[in-house]
Amino acid sequence: ARNRHYKWEVKYEYRSPDCFKKLVITVNGITPGPTIQAQEGDTVVVQVNNTLITENLSIHWHGIRQIGTPWFDGSEGVTQCPILPGDTFIYQFVVDRPGTYLYHAHYGMQREAGLYGLIRVAPRDPEPFNYDFDRSIILNDWYHKSTYEQAAGLSSIPFQWVGEPQSLLIHGKGRFNCSKSPSLSTDVCDISKCSPFIQTVIPGKTYRLRICSLTALSALSFQIEGHNMTVVEADGHYVEPFVVKNLFIYSGETYSVLVKTDQDPSRNYWITSNVVSRNRTTPPGLAIFNYYPNHPKRSPPTVPPSPPAWDDVEPRLAQSLAIKARQGYIHKPPTTSDRVIMLLNTQNNVSERRHWSVNNVSFTHPHTPYLIALKENITNAFDPTSPPDGSEFANYDIFSVAENANATTSNGIYRLKFNTTVDVILQNANTMNKNNSETHPWHLHGHDFWVLGYGKGKFDVKNDTKQYNLENPIMKNTVPVHPFGWTAVRFRSDNPGVWAFHCHIESHFYMGMGVVFEEGIERVGKLPSSIMGCGQAKGFHNP
Ligand code: C2O
Ligand code: CU
Repeated sequence: ARNRHYKWEVKYEYRSPDCFKKLVITVNGITPGPTIQAQEGDTVVVQVNNTLITENLSIHWHGIRQIGTPWFDGSEGVTQCPILPGDTFIYQFVVDRPGTYLYHAHYGMQREAGLYGLIRVAPRDPEPFNYDFDRSIILNDWYHKSTYEQAAGLSSIPFQWVGEPQSLLIHGKGRFNCSKSPSLSTDVCDISKCSPFIQTVIPGKTYRLRICSLTALSALSFQIEGHNMTVVEADGHYVEPFVVKNLFIYSGETYSVLVKTDQDPSRNYWITSNVVSRNRTTPPGLAIFNYYPNHPKRSPPTVPPSPPAWDDVEPRLAQSLAIKARQGYIHKPPTTSDRVIMLLNTQNNVSERRHWSVNNVSFTHPHTPYLIALKENITNAFDPTSPPDGSEFANYDIFSVAENANATTSNGIYRLKFNTTVDVILQNANTMNKNNSETHPWHLHGHDFWVLGYGKGKFDVKNDTKQYNLENPIMKNTVPVHPFGWTAVRFRSDNPGVWAFHCHIESHFYMGMGVVFEEGIERVGKLPSSIMGCGQAKGFHNP
């Protein structure tokens, strides 16, 4: 195993990824940031220099379990204090498994300012599929307002929702129609300042495409005109191959698909991304699948393929259900669990502000990170009352407009018994609007979970548990909860630390849609003093 050293300078710079000029966060001058490439078992060392001048920072390594290094998970308020402007912070962790992972800012809503990228971990063993080339495409959505304006709107009275994104980016590139906003000067919006992403391919080959999403809000449908995709990997686990025409992908997910370049080689094809699950107002993201030697900028002669209906849940649920662990690579889950936590997802008003709540508790970050508070026995750094396990919501009507007049905010956490099996049932419900329920991609830090099942409507303990897939469930770290539906996952509380579990929609997490799990805190090793320096952790900071 090797050490892989990276030196990153993180700063704000003007960029026009979709032709609209705004301040974006770059890593070493680029967004998406540099790809981390390593081999299974390597140690990755990233020296982060926070040059944002007036803004804190932390970076999360999404999908990396941080076994033995829970303090380098990068979730501000949970596992570390923020990196102050001007400071340098060194993350060091082992990438213990092969696969496709992500990194992104984990402070406030900073991720959507552009600090995100890929981690690719090559396997030691041969893979169960073949390909000629290995390429990556990160999908994103893009707002023109700054992160600050958005966050301030979400926490003000009257509440101001962030709205739909202005553009969809494919590998950091998109195109906003500047002429639709004639009031914008060409200094701000200039269609000569952006160009679509181009994936050049050689005819007659097989490509592995690593498709990842780090959208702030949108669920996406990804498609390559005229080409089928065979799904072979999800969140770092091999999938029993299945073929799709379009891939539904949610924020925080990664997939590998195999694509054969077996179409008419005399032309180019469209690569598209489209919003699903929300009544889309954002135009499609467009990129070019360029068959060599056609000119890369030559537009395909056809119109881009039309997207699936935004409100049709069926094909999305069907894809979720199709994702199974690959034969020969199945990790069987324990057949029973020690604890079941039901997490009811609702929208609420708490003191005149719109929130998202889990079991009627809207999550807030403490000022002193949990990991430090628990390990150093700093009492009253956060609410010692654990949020409810959810059984009291057994009779909640998920099809009615959410009222939840008694919802509260809290920074209390779930304490899990070490080395036990935990089931979490994520239950979706109606929002505060009539006949409306959204899609929420939930991401767990520090673990992979088995995806035991998805279903429509209200989770039924007696019957739905019988339908659990205990034979070949896929392991993932991010999973969608479909509108008016439920998703059941199982994991082992075997990774000492404190781990966030939250909706990966940037504004939803900001509005309280998350929980935190503690497990085996007494087994956590000595904390590095570099993570301290805020709140009551300051006394333990010994630079
Ligand atoms: Cu990729 Cu806590 O997030
Ligand atoms: Cu959400």
